[in-house]
Amino acid sequence: MAQKTPSPDNIPALEQQPLPDHASPAAPSAQLVPTIEPATDESDDNYWSESASDLTSLASSVTNYVYENGRTYHSYREGKYVADRAISDLRLSFTLVLRGQYHLAPLDEPQNILDLGTGTGIWAIDVADTYPSARVIGNDLSPIQPRFVAPNAEFVIEDFEEEWLYSKNKFDFIHGRTLSGAVKDWPELFKKAHRHIKPGGWFEVQEAPIWCWSDDDSLKHDSPLLQFLAILEQASSIDGRSLNVCEQLKPWMIEAGFEDVHVKVHKIPWGPWAKDPRLKEIGRYQYVNAIQSVDSYGLALMTRLMGYTEDQAKIFLAIVKNQLRSKSLHAYNLIYFVYGRKPLTAS
Ligand SMILES: C[S@@+](CC[C@H](N)C(=O)[O-])C[C@H]1O[C@@H](n2cnc3c(N)ncnc32)[C@H](O)[C@@H]1O
Repeated sequence: MAQKTPSPDNIPALEQQPLPDHASPAAPSAQLVPTIEPATDESDDNYWSESASDLTSLASSVTNYVYENGRTYHSYREGKYVADRAISDLRLSFTLVLRGQYHLAPLDEPQNILDLGTGTGIWAIDVADTYPSARVIGNDLSPIQPRFVAPNAEFVIEDFEEEWLYSKNKFDFIHGRTLSGAVKDWPELFKKAHRHIKPGGWFEVQEAPIWCWSDDDSLKHDSPLLQFLAILEQASSIDGRSLNVCEQLKPWMIEAGFEDVHVKVHKIPWGPWAKDPRLKEIGRYQYVNAIQSVDSYGLALMTRLMGYTEDQAKIFLAIVKNQLRSKSLHAYNLIYFVYGRKPLTAS
């Protein structure tokens, strides 16, 4: 059968779905963070020269995946987490933004560290190298972590939404990165983290809203990209695992009993359009991340929860990815680093 050319006309389900008014997540910080200046040379031949392949390799030893829509999803607690495994090792932008650091919480010779939803374990492995005298545990639903790692790093398959079997007050530091879409009850998760962190220990979450903005109106309100992000937000709300929680992270942390809670927000260009070379570099990584995320989040949520057929979803996602490739698009996302300390007086 002849393949339909991707075009907005092929997607009846989308046409019936105008962008909901509530779609754009409140992000007052977007206005507070300085504007990124775009490069003026639009004729850059190397604009997309970086190949995604360097960034997307994953351990070949991965086993036990559920195959759906041509992609793989974890099989432990099947169906619980919607982003497929390709997304799990694309968190480089966070480390690049922190200029090679892995966290902002001020740690002092930590002994026990827990990484929630560790994914490929990259963060846990790097942090185990940084603190050789600490024991770093990374947990996840999926066994996608490498088998041979430093002796002070360990990976366990467990569900962080279940009861934690770790002793109370065990950890000097608990960390979770890009868990949006994976958590049903954030306040409860934060309370668990509080229970299992030592008095004086730190908790840090690093998250990005699943939304984007532009300061020069190059991203129109009714564009395919924002329609797609609105569909994702709608779908994730049906699932009870919102993708847009950044603005609530600080209040939840305080409510759980943490003090000295800090929030740092950075703008991240989606694509190599920034004038500043460091932001340009981050934009390249983020572009790969965004392109991968379109399929990772999009296919599962649109077909499982929003009633799209696989073909409809794939055509629509192709249009969205096309928009992401446009040189004139100066879209950016925000990333949030939120960290707080368990009071010394807490039990
Ligand atoms: C987007 S990835 C982030 C990976 C990692 N934190 C990073 O930044 O590189 C989210 C991870 O959370 C895991 N996850 C989702 N729900 C979980 C749960 N209930 N318990 C443990 N891990 C979970 C997923 O399997 C996935 O590997």
